[in-house]
Amino acid sequence: MDRFFSALLLLLLPSLSTSVPSDPFYFDNNIDHEDPTSGTYSQRFYQTIDHFKGPGNPIFLVFGGEGAVPPSTGLFYPYINEQLAANLSAAVLQPEHRFYGASQPAPKTNDNLKKLMTPQQALNDAANLVTSFRAQAGCATTPGEPGYCPVIAVGGSYPGFLSFSARLTHPNVFDASYAASAPVHFYAQQVDGGDYYELITKSAERSMAGCPESVSKALSDVQADLQDGDYCFDMSSQLPSGKSATISSGDWSGVGTGDDGEMWDWQTCSLLVERIGFDAGRSMFLQRDWTMEWMAEHCSKRFEVTPDPLKLANDWGFADIESTGLTRVLFTNGLNDGWAVGSVTTVSDIANAEERDLIVMNFDNGAHHSDLSHSEPGDDDTLDIQKGHADIQDLMNRWVKDIMLG
Ligand SMILES: *[C@@H]1O[C@H](CO)[C@@H](O)[C@H](O)[C@H]1NC(C)=O
Repeated sequence: MDRFFSALLLLLLPSLSTSVPSDPFYFDNNIDHEDPTSGTYSQRFYQTIDHFKGPGNPIFLVFGGEGAVPPSTGLFYPYINEQLAANLSAAVLQPEHRFYGASQPAPKTNDNLKKLMTPQQALNDAANLVTSFRAQAGCATTPGEPGYCPVIAVGGSYPGFLSFSARLTHPNVFDASYAASAPVHFYAQQVDGGDYYELITKSAERSMAGCPESVSKALSDVQADLQDGDYCFDMSSQLPSGKSATISSGDWSGVGTGDDGEMWDWQTCSLLVERIGFDAGRSMFLQRDWTMEWMAEHCSKRFEVTPDPLKLANDWGFADIESTGLTRVLFTNGLNDGWAVGSVTTVSDIANAEERDLIVMNFDNGAHHSDLSHSEPGDDDTLDIQKGHADIQDLMNRWVKDIMLG
């Protein structure tokens, strides 16, 4: 059965996108931000200062996420690197997330991962990188001072969550956050296990009436065939690395292959638990309920780790954003995206959201962080995304002005 569901998950993996090849840079970052004696490692990052006019101008810190970022990928988002950077005379920095690609602080033993492979460490990496850049560029250090360089955290998907968390946990380094398709409610365990694929199924129906029904029927037929033993296929090339690997792993929306898949499996097995399952009657896929028991067993076999699903929410308080004091965050969401069921799609429940500059932009025709796409913004975007790009540019201009005033 597992193989069968795995094949399904593969169908849902996002396709590879175009990108902006760039030369990598390296930064000596702390191996362990909790232990100053731990030494440093070489973290890969990308930057563009083509548009940067120095002190008094902003810096976008674009978070890398759950994958290596080779030079052939380079800087992710032309909307940021080109459009917003040009508009605001801004610099763009984009660190690769630790333990992916060339950014390896330590061997991947279970003990090292427990201590070092956390969102907290990744946030500190980014904070150090941008603080160092700011100093080297000669920027002033206090908002309101002439020559200050406002820092805006940016990210889509898990990096969207990092961008939100950067503003939440390091408000003195990150002045604002642009968090696209950020699974904040997933990581506060506020999402029902059937919600994700229910939305996927609704999106499929919206794209093509009758599609979910056909998918559902086809899958039942294939399942019957598989049970008869008519055929099977070799999924090994689709597995993440490491022992006891399974294709569905910690993230049932698709965990990825090879070393990237292994590290994302680790992250979703430790602090980033995601409730994504296939409920009967709510999704076009065959039923397979998500359970904490399955996760706990998988994670114990694979990494000898017990998932700690509420630690981040408890430490940082984001299960109740109102109480955090958070300000100046833009949440964007594509409503065809399964992750929208667990991202911040409304702030109407947050008192003073407007004064606090907590802003939501939902795109009816948007997909998973499609406002932050790997291709140039333009006529290929749906009209709501095109309008979104203009609105976001206006907002960034206002924020930079506000921050410069102190
Ligand atoms: C940047 O964008 C703002 C708001 O959209 C616009 O008013 C301004 O003219 C633009 N500036 C430049 C230099 O393009």
